[in-house]
Amino acid sequence: MGSGERLKSASIPETKEKIQYHLQVKPSDVSRYVLLPGDPGRVLKIASFWDKSWKVAEHREYTTYSGYYKNVFISATSTGIGAPSTAIAIEELARVGSDTFIRVGTTGALHRFINVGDLIISTGAVRLEGTSKQYVIPEYPAIASLDVTLALIAAAETLNVNYHLGLTASSDSFYVGQERPGYKGYIPPFQRGLIDFLKSINVLNFEMEAATIFTLSSIYGLRAGSVCAAIANRETEEFIVDAGVEDAIKVANEAVKILSIWDKYMVEKKKKTVTPEIIYDWFKEYLKR
Ligand code: URA
Repeated sequence: MGSGERLKSASIPETKEKIQYHLQVKPSDVSRYVLLPGDPGRVLKIASFWDKSWKVAEHREYTTYSGYYKNVFISATSTGIGAPSTAIAIEELARVGSDTFIRVGTTGALHRFINVGDLIISTGAVRLEGTSKQYVIPEYPAIASLDVTLALIAAAETLNVNYHLGLTASSDSFYVGQERPGYKGYIPPFQRGLIDFLKSINVLNFEMEAATIFTLSSIYGLRAGSVCAAIANRETEEFIVDAGVEDAIKVANEAVKILSIWDKYMVEKKKKTVTPEIIYDWFKEYLKR
């Protein structure tokens, strides 16, 4: 997309070939299965586990690679940090035909029992960000898709990594919004006690994108899940850069492979969701490997 190029309209900013304004991807560039790290650099790391990969586009915070993982066409797009840029990624990926999203992120654990380097698979997210509220009423839940979450659990189990399953809180702010002191120790009264409150209602972790991905995906009838590496623990005050990130990437890639098998079975068995029979059939085949 060149500078000065005239797009379809102000409301639909894409080219004649449907190249999207921000991500600069078009239909056929990307798989139905897209991994969503925040960090553009992590897209390359994700693709390094694929059998074959190529760069599709790189524009602003959005880097997209596509390729093949165990014979499954797969893509990864960075969302940038936080809800607004993440919503743009979902909007434009959906427009080019993607329908299954897995966030591959980093997170701060709220409980002592979660070790730095463990993974957290989210069943849903508390919508502490603002973007999803511009889409739908605050009472609307930000929940992960059952199929994708089950595939993430299956991948974590088969790869034998430590993981926790539960609720996540998605914030618009890494510092003050996650009850970290701002510059000069600033913390407003309404953020004090947030961590204790979230712990008391059984929220496992803080991150910044899951709620947007879950909410938009639910609204549009798309599927989404999230696996994050706990690089920080807010109780023990440990912070280890990239701890567990490689495990999160392996789990997300493997979850796509598993989902692709389940999706095939769903078509064959005329099911609209993953059933115990589908999981049983997959596991029987898996054990034969
Ligand atoms: N990402 C977050 O949003 N918070 C953390 O504490 C770590 C990663």
